[in-house]
Amino acid sequence: MIILPSSGSALCTTEVWLIGPGNCKNVASKRTAMDYGLDAPGVVRGLVILGCLCALGAAAVRLFGLGQPILSALLFSPAPGLLFTAAWMIWSSRVGKLRMVAKLLSLYAWRGDEVVLDIGCGRGLAAIEAARRAGSGYVVGIDRWRGRDLSGNSPDAARTNARAAGVVTRISLVTADATQLPFAMNAFDVVVTTITVHNIATRLERCHAINEALRVLRPGGTLLIFDILYTPRYARAAVAAGAQVVRLSAPSMLWALPGWSLVIRKSGTQSSCCSRASVSTTGAASRSTCR
Ligand SMILES: C[S@@+](CC[C@H](N)C(=O)[O-])C[C@H]1O[C@@H](n2cnc3c(N)ncnc32)[C@H](O)[C@@H]1O
Repeated sequence: MIILPSSGSALCTTEVWLIGPGNCKNVASKRTAMDYGLDAPGVVRGLVILGCLCALGAAAVRLFGLGQPILSALLFSPAPGLLFTAAWMIWSSRVGKLRMVAKLLSLYAWRGDEVVLDIGCGRGLAAIEAARRAGSGYVVGIDRWRGRDLSGNSPDAARTNARAAGVVTRISLVTADATQLPFAMNAFDVVVTTITVHNIATRLERCHAINEALRVLRPGGTLLIFDILYTPRYARAAVAAGAQVVRLSAPSMLWALPGWSLVIRKSGTQSSCCSRASVSTTGAASRSTCR
């Protein structure tokens, strides 16, 4: 048996690797699951607390005869929806997100030597998956490491996952803001960003983030996005910046909100989709505005 660090499934350890794809299922006794955290942990906590309070309040009204049965029913009625949404968000973070990232990255035909940027890498999910696909390439992950967006969010958590995946030597982590990337123009072959841009507070700043992603992408390079709520606007911003939308998926409902995969190819030239002066407050359509 030859042991080497290599790519494998999300459940492999670095210590024991067998040659060949898929072989890590043979080393189940040495498995360590990577932990990519819980998205929007405060929202999940709030939904669980509110759902439990509704259910307990309804039970108390019923048990202690504090009002009509209708009051108890009214109090109880939001509880299943709140608790179901919390459970769906947990499933989305723990299972759905992993599948979504694998699907998103498979929309690009990997050569294997790409230089990749993951914007808002969090605990490293897309960065690690990209490092596996770009087997002789290199990945840079940038983030502001905000705990309210992702539980346990830190460079150390991302590094631990990258080490467990056997790709730690091919990933760099940089603290930076998506709206002001500290990289030269045309520096990356592929830029990926998952569940990140919607966290940026304003439409203008989100537009700057898309513009920055395109700036650091080389001409002919590919920008892969999965995000909720505003993704069709990113497609319009990219087109306004002179890029080509290769694919905008049908919406999915991860995290109980509409989310889309978006594949963009950068052309030879790029204009700004959103100079501060040019974005109208109404978001009116224009090649120089960001809707
Ligand atoms: C929901 S998490 C997703 C993390 C990771 N992409 C994933 O799929 O697991 C959103 C991430 O975006 C980061 N983030 C939010 N605003 C940012 C900004 N302006 N610049 C860089 N990162 C940002 C957060 O710190 C967080 O790590």
